[in-house]
Amino acid sequence: MTIDVCALGDIPEGGCLAVTVEQTPVALVRTEGEVFAIFDRCSHADVALSEGDVTGCEIECWLHGSSFDLRTGEPLSLPATAAVPVYPVTVTGEGESARVAITLAPTP
Ligand code: FES
Repeated sequence: MTIDVCALGDIPEGGCLAVTVEQTPVALVRTEGEVFAIFDRCSHADVALSEGDVTGCEIECWLHGSSFDLRTGEPLSLPATAAVPVYPVTVTGEGESARVAITLAPTP
């Protein structure tokens, strides 16, 4: 199910926009010229990844410092050991008004 979520300009460059899509918390991350969508809960404890720092294609959990790959959801450092779901993103249009849509089914 692909769902229109926001305009590209709603997501800060190098940062996150926290949204709720069909009752699923999602962090939209704009970095490296791309938009990524990742489940907005750390797999280590129930805190929002959208409140963490983005570096390149990684987001760092603010609580204990695990980083997750935004492309795969895989943890890159301890203490988290489980992946977080990521979702395909489609950007349609040009400039800051381009529309951002996500597909909610987790990628395999
Ligand atoms: S809650 Fe995210 S690393 Fe511990």
